[in-house]
Amino acid sequence: MSQSEELKQEVHDYWNAASCGTFAAVSEKYTKEYYDEIEQYRYTTEPEIKPFAQFEKYKGKKVLEVGVGAGTDFLQWCKNGALAYGIDLTEEGINHVQHRLQLYNLSAQEFKVCDCENIQYPDNTFDLVYSWGVIHHSPNTEKAYSELVRVCKPGGEIKFMVYNIDSVLSRFFWVKHALLKLKPWKSKAWVLWNHMESMGTKAYNHNSIRSMMAPYNADVISVESPFTYYDTMARHSPAMSIADKMIPLIYNKNKDGWFLKMVCRKKI
Ligand SMILES: C[S@@+](CC[C@H](N)C(=O)[O-])C[C@H]1O[C@@H](n2cnc3c(N)ncnc32)[C@H](O)[C@@H]1O
Repeated sequence: MSQSEELKQEVHDYWNAASCGTFAAVSEKYTKEYYDEIEQYRYTTEPEIKPFAQFEKYKGKKVLEVGVGAGTDFLQWCKNGALAYGIDLTEEGINHVQHRLQLYNLSAQEFKVCDCENIQYPDNTFDLVYSWGVIHHSPNTEKAYSELVRVCKPGGEIKFMVYNIDSVLSRFFWVKHALLKLKPWKSKAWVLWNHMESMGTKAYNHNSIRSMMAPYNADVISVESPFTYYDTMARHSPAMSIADKMIPLIYNKNKDGWFLKMVCRKKI
């Protein structure tokens, strides 16, 4: 196994043990209550997802979601009448999607285990390729991005989110995992690679993500990264909410947020 294959196996094992956001549920696994808790937590803590994804805009359109996780966004494509296709590296994620569609009596075109670095669909297939918080976990993020572009139709949209290395959260993580561990020489990239979710997580800023995307056949429509819930200190303890008043004095609330959200259009 190459180093990259070993890392991908680690990423698989991490997310296969528990899909993203499932920690928020206390009800019995696979019940409606369980999924309602996951969904409520997700759209409360990440309110930027709905306006970014625009679930209702793609009725009758072919949408591929890359990295469905526990399937919360995937369900919205199905509810809103998109011709929904979903992939994830893990059997666990695909299993969740199956349970959720059955629970809500919804259907999708197809969902399957598949690596985003080698998407098993032909070129120019989808009107929208959507991916929230996924490709930075895959060892070759640039290859994954090239695949999002490849399977998108000319004139179609690619919307994806990766983590922002210049965010308040990245700095907070650096303080916690480097400075307070007496390793101030370690970089934010090192900290995120070793301590943010699965091993090997990467993060970008506005310049580095544009450089990564530049060689591929898509125009960048927008790159946005305003503050998120994860950039607040009050989420750790209400007593820390005083710090939240200081943060915008030091950092840019329109740019230094954790989610770097990209909207691109494939060239015709
Ligand atoms: C942070 S979770 C995000 C899941 C979902 N998009 C969400 O927002 O809840 C990361 C997901 O990326 C998936 N993933 C990681 N590497 C992948 C790869 N190479 N191909 C497909 N999915 C991958 C994981 O299995 C996991 O479900």
